Amino acid sequence: MFRAEIITVSDKCYKKEKVDKSGIKLEEILVKKNYQIEEYIILPNDKNVIRQKLEYAADTLEVDIIFTIGGTGFHEKDITPEATMAVIDRQAMGIAEAIRAYSMTITKKAMLSRAVSGIRKKSLIINLPGSAKAVVECLEFALPYITYVINILRGNISNYKRN
Ligand code: MTE
Repeated sequence: MFRAEIITVSDKCYKKEKVDKSGIKLEEILVKKNYQIEEYIILPNDKNVIRQKLEYAADTLEVDIIFTIGGTGFHEKDITPEATMAVIDRQAMGIAEAIRAYSMTITKKAMLSRAVSGIRKKSLIINLPGSAKAVVECLEFALPYITYVINILRGNISNYKRN
């Protein structure tokens, strides 16, 4: 069973002006796939706050996967990718690019997501766009591969390059 952290980044959801439908949807999808949700929290669009939570989830909780939702667009308060870049040890842009490429087949607005992905210690961090629709689309496509990557990071698959 993989252990997951869900971080929704939204000032409006943080202030309870809006229900976090995307986080609820993601939790539902992951639970169905047998993930254990270690923590599900809503944060404001604040780079330092996001950074600290990413570090805590990777270093203290040692979760397998951290999904952030939202804050990947072009508005000046969208800084989730920057907070992620500030904490990762290694980039994993193939995942972000594959999600974006797949999403482009659904909506050209996918190019408006600046989402990144990377690894901090043994935790994989993946930015997702903010809408519930986008979360479902991205997960449908990427989750099988994400599961595979986690197994590599955890040392459950050692000879994957030859397979
Ligand atoms: N990706 C998918 N798969 N489906 C979508 O509907 N919406 C796009 C994009 N990525 C979308 C998507 C839109 S409209 C925006 S503005 C960006 O994600 C950034 O969203 P965010 O700022 O909420 O993170």
